[in-house]
Amino acid sequence: MTGNNLAIIVLAAGQGTRMKSRLPKVLHPIGGRPLVGHVLTTAGRLAADHVEVVVRHERDQVVAALAKDYPDAVFIDQDEVPGTGRAVQVAIDAIPDFDGDVLVLSGDCPLADAGTLGSFLDEHRATGAAATLMTAVVDDPTGYGRVIRDTDGGVDRIVEQKDASADEAAITEINAGMYVFRAEVLRRYLPQVGVDNAQGEMYLTDVPGLLRAAGDKVAASVVSDVSVTYGVNDRAQLALVGRLLNERIVRHWQLEGVTVIDPATTWIDDDATLAPDVTILPNTHILGATKISEGAIIGPDTTLVDCEVGEDAIVRRTDATLAVISAEATVGPFSFLRPNTVLGAKGKIGAYVETKNAEIGEGSKVPHLSYVGDATIGRGVNLGASTITANYDDVNKHRAVVEDEVHTGSHTTLVAPVRLGAGAKTGAGAVVRKDVPAGALSMTVAPQRNVEGWVEKNRAGTNAADAAARARVAE
Ligand code: UD1
Ligand code: CA
Repeated sequence: MTGNNLAIIVLAAGQGTRMKSRLPKVLHPIGGRPLVGHVLTTAGRLAADHVEVVVRHERDQVVAALAKDYPDAVFIDQDEVPGTGRAVQVAIDAIPDFDGDVLVLSGDCPLADAGTLGSFLDEHRATGAAATLMTAVVDDPTGYGRVIRDTDGGVDRIVEQKDASADEAAITEINAGMYVFRAEVLRRYLPQVGVDNAQGEMYLTDVPGLLRAAGDKVAASVVSDVSVTYGVNDRAQLALVGRLLNERIVRHWQLEGVTVIDPATTWIDDDATLAPDVTILPNTHILGATKISEGAIIGPDTTLVDCEVGEDAIVRRTDATLAVISAEATVGPFSFLRPNTVLGAKGKIGAYVETKNAEIGEGSKVPHLSYVGDATIGRGVNLGASTITANYDDVNKHRAVVEDEVHTGSHTTLVAPVRLGAGAKTGAGAVVRKDVPAGALSMTVAPQRNVEGWVEKNRAGTNAADAAARARVAE
């Protein structure tokens, strides 16, 4: 498609004042990635010779957020001269020998996909124009630069919202902020761009007008799907663009064979992967690099972050991060799986159970009201209701080891470090402070004492005392 002779400049130096945020605008995430990360992911698919990211506002934070995931991107520092024109100028100056096509993208426009940009580039190359702008006709052009056409329909210039007359502001064809220029055109015209405008900035959008005045041809590519042009300038647009991205991701997985019962309340990050015949029930968030295998049923009301879910597993009303849930295991409802939980095949983590740094073997069950932290649980184990690992002594964390086929009684407390040998059992309420040999029964028993008649004597007149009296008469 595009091959080489292409440089991509991604503008990411602005503060994003309208976001009213501590976080630089281009780092606000949608679909599990910063806005500018989506632009760089797309840029990576276009096989460019250069990918440059222009930074200035909170530059260290922006670079730190992107450098690892986008090792091929080169960060270029914009100086104190403000404006998109200056941003492109410093980037083009950093590749003085490059003389191909320059695709300029905005770090705040994350929805332009590689297919759209590839066709855009092809169109530019086919017409031989000095520059091609992407434009769209929208219902509400507020905030965008307007495309002013001359009498024969060609592009005359772009006027920014803040510099537009009332007539110009009424134009609904907007500049999408994505352009292809021949490098030489930028080198020639950017030095002529001034800051004499409402914002006192060097506008990249002045270049088409300058080209036109010099008799060069400026082409416009009008996109039919206007959503690819949507930019994020404020939080309302952030939500809109995030929803559109999510719709696209959900639809992708639906076409790959995933049943999504309610797309409107299902959120799937860009890095997640889902196999055919997965079913997602409403209000479910599949985040990070979560991977879900065939036949698994997830939700409703479930959040999975960087999890792995095996074939035919069932995960209901659960919050899990960095957990592995193996094939045919069941989790939920109301389970909280913290990092490094590994649940074996056919295992179960049930209602009101919290786990952390815990390996739970094949077929083992933690069905009710438990905390299992820093533990290694073998196969075929059943931890009775409300079994708790006491893993923390206020100074250090300790590990509990529970070998295969152990069954613990309700309300067992495992005071770690401790080991329960294979097949061992504990009585209800056991507080296990010492290792239990394989096959032993461990009990912590104080003799039970019943004080006859205590209630009638000490709680006379209560419902309990009356009930007790009636029961004795009936005997
Ligand atoms: C810009 C266009 C406008 C277009 C709109 C499309 C200009 C002057 N205006 O307006 O015609 O309709 O995009 O979304 O270009 N940036 C820098 N350095 C700067 C200033 C901005 O790198 O000095 C970056 C920002 O981080 C952002 C992008 O350039 O990613 C666009 O800047 P923004 O301020 O959002 O421009 P708009 O007002 O949206
Ligand atoms: Ca913008």
